[in-house]
This record gives sequence, C-alpha cells and structure tokens, in this order.
Amino acid sequence: MKVLNNGKDKEQTNSNVEEVIECFNLPENEFIKDYDTFSIMEKKVTDYTHIMHKYPSKYIPQVPRWAIEQFSNEGDIVLDPFLGSGTTAIESMVYNRNGIGLDVNPIARLISKVKTTPINPKLLSEQYSRLLIAINNDPNLKEEVIPETPNISKWFTEESIYNLSRFKFYINQIENDDIRDFFLGTFSAIIRKCSNAEYRSQKTYISSRFRRPPANVFDMFDRRFNQYLQGMTHFYNEMLEKDSFARVVEGSADNFDLTDTLSELWGREKIDLAITSPPYVTAVEYPAVFKLEYQWLGYFADKEINEHRKNYIGTDRYYADQYKQKQKFGHKELDKQLEEIFKINNKKSYIIYKFFEGMRNNIKSVANHLKKNGKYVIVVGNNTVLNFEIPINEYLIDIAEEFGFKLEKKFSYVIKDRHLVFPRNGRGGIINKDWMIVLNKED
Ligand SMILES: C[S@@+](CC[C@H](N)C(=O)[O-])C[C@H]1O[C@@H](n2cnc3c(N)ncnc32)[C@H](O)[C@@H]1O
Repeated sequence: MKVLNNGKDKEQTNSNVEEVIECFNLPENEFIKDYDTFSIMEKKVTDYTHIMHKYPSKYIPQVPRWAIEQFSNEGDIVLDPFLGSGTTAIESMVYNRNGIGLDVNPIARLISKVKTTPINPKLLSEQYSRLLIAINNDPNLKEEVIPETPNISKWFTEESIYNLSRFKFYINQIENDDIRDFFLGTFSAIIRKCSNAEYRSQKTYISSRFRRPPANVFDMFDRRFNQYLQGMTHFYNEMLEKDSFARVVEGSADNFDLTDTLSELWGREKIDLAITSPPYVTAVEYPAVFKLEYQWLGYFADKEINEHRKNYIGTDRYYADQYKQKQKFGHKELDKQLEEIFKINNKKSYIIYKFFEGMRNNIKSVANHLKKNGKYVIVVGNNTVLNFEIPINEYLIDIAEEFGFKLEKKFSYVIKDRHLVFPRNGRGGIINKDWMIVLNKED
C-alpha cells in the first residue's frame, strides 16, 4: 500500500511518497529498518481484560507486545511509568513477565489494578447475583454515596442518580477488595453513558444541540459486566499457567523511586525493560475527561479537580506569573521553537517547556531503574502547537542521550482505530501516526 506523505518525514525519502507496510503484527526487530512505517492489520485489540473501560489515548496491545517479545524474557520486570489503563502490564503478564506501572490518575490506577488481577469468574458471577438481589430488595435512595456536586441534576437525571446510588452503595459493601474493585471499575465504566453528557467526546460536557437520553443504569451495568466477565474469564484461564503478576503504584512518572518496591516484590532492584506512551502536550486533560467518574467514585470533589490537573505532564494548568518569563531548555532547536511560540503565546511556550522538563525527569528516573543494555521504548506522536510541528520524538532522543541512552531504532505505525483512541489534536490537526523509539541504556 502506498499513501501520500504529508512531506514531513523527509529523512526517510527524497520524494513525497511514503510507503506504508501492511502487517498483522509488527515484524521481528531485526527486520525493521529505521523510518519504516507500518499499518498493523490485526483486529484483535480487546482480548483478555483489554476490553475493560474506555481510556483516552490507549495504545493497541500489539504495540507493547512487540517490545515485550523483542526485548525481554520470561520472569523479567517490565515498567510503564505512564500506565494509563494498564495495557503494558496486561501484556507483560500474559507473556509471563512481571509488570509494574505508575499513574497519577486514580481512575487509571483502579482500572489497571482490576485488569491485572485475575479473579475466578465464578466468584464474580455469584457476587453479581448477590448485588442485584440486594439492590432490588432495597428501593431506598442512598444519599450518602451521591456526590456533593451542587449542580448534579444538570449532569444526571433523577432516575440515574437513584439507581447509581444504589449500585454504588451495595458495591461498597463487597468485602473482598479485588472483587469490590472489579465492580467499582465496571461502575466507573457506565457513568458517562448513564449521564446527560456527551459520550464520544473527551471532555465532559452536555451538548445543547444533540441531547441524548442517558442509558438505563441496570441495562448498562449488565452489558458491561457481561463483557468484562468474558474478558476476565479469558485472562484468568491464561494466567492459570503463569506465575507473573503486576503492581500498580501511585506516583509521578517524573520523579519516582521503585527500588524498595522491586526488592520487596521480586527481590531485585532493577527493571529489564520500560515501555510507555507519554501524554501529549495539551491534548488530553484527563481530569476533565473523568470529572463525573471522580465524583461518583469519591476521588475528588468538583472543586478539587483543578488542583489535581497540575500533577499531569502535558497539562495547561499554569498561572500567569509562571509563564511571564521565556524559558530555556538547553536544546538548540527546541529553544528556538520555544522562543518563536513565546512571541505569539507565552503560555503555550511554557506548557511545551514544562512538558519536556517532565519528560527529561522521567527519562532520568527510568535510567536509574533500568539494567545495563535494557531498553526504554517510547511511543509518541508529534504535536502541532500554533502551527508549529514539535518533533517530540527527535527531542526525546536527544534528551535521552543525556542519561546514557543511545537510539537503537526508530519507526512508526499508523493509528487507525479512532474508537479506541480519542483523536489527539493539539489544536493543529489529528495525529495519525505514532513513532516508536527504542533506546538502549549503554551504561
Ligand atoms: C497516553 S496515556 C497512556 C495510555 C496507556 N498506554 C494505555 O494503553 O492505556 C498517558 C498517561 O499518563 C498519565 N500521566 C500524566 N502525567 C503523569 C505523571 N506525571 N505521572 C504519571 N502518569 C502521568 C495520564 O494519567 C495517562 O494515563
């Protein structure tokens, strides 16, 4: 298949035509050349527990799977410092590697934990029957679990609030932590659909033009529970033969020390491989996506969400006095772009600067944990901010060299499933290609 190049990847070809290589799965590393572009045709992207919960900018399992198969062995430890919905950790376990991951988003940590905790499906079915009996036997509204959002009736109908409160109340009563979390994850997955907010958009908002009726809480829970039960059955059966497990840790990807956790869990201080897809600059405001879920799950009240936004790499939550001054990162091309952008919009320039500062600290933290010759595989697209294309992958490669990494390979794949990932538009168009950069830790 040949597609027209947008003219940006000039390193690859002198013409403006870029060849896209169709494949079911990415080929072995040795058969991949720098600047190859692949189109992954394999359609099975919801195997195991991957099916659970929608998550912005989730990557397809084939991506971490490729890195796991190429650069690690059974029993190894694989880190994802921006774990998101747990894709890397699930794949690590299925391939009999141990997974460890960090995320600042409590919803990400909940669903990653649920997706990497094998539970006997029989126990889940039995619990579901008990849950429904309890809810149906008690017609009372459960005020104590309804979020204290002043305008909650704007977001939810009375009927949705009534039914969600009963589900939440009885899920909270489940004694077994892992089973309770499975039901909380399922509960979280139905909240947007059972609200008045738009379902397909990233941001939580109510469309005045296309008002849709909220889904029925019982129907939606039933549908999701059965889907997730099927996914869990597959995962549970697969894991019966394996002795790997994963741990999800609360923490920030730009400053972490997992040494004690690694020693405690696996008797080792180093990880063997790191794989991640970091957030995009200003593209996804995760707290704005999960506003309703945070409130129903009791993570944050509405007024606390803005404060929480500051923890994210790529956020735009900064105060005017922070971005008054032009910042210098210490990278020639990046500093030139920061300066140009500063002239038009000083805040945007600061946001980009802070993104790279966060990524520099992330690469440093990963370098501290990775064994010699271990790989850090970073999956990243390029953002366009105010018509400036920021070659994030190239800048990250240069930054990684500061910490003893050397680029081993760089190639890309076309992002196809627009339902799996939300569009990543940094106000300058949809990013339709992700770069995979393979960095080797030389010392
Ligand atoms: C592109 S998503 C990762 C998606 C993941 N690969 C998946 O398949 O679900 C980036 C993640 O980085 C997280 N994140 C943003 N800033 C962070 C930080 N400072 N520390 C840890 N995680 C952070 C976000 O919450 C989000 O889950």
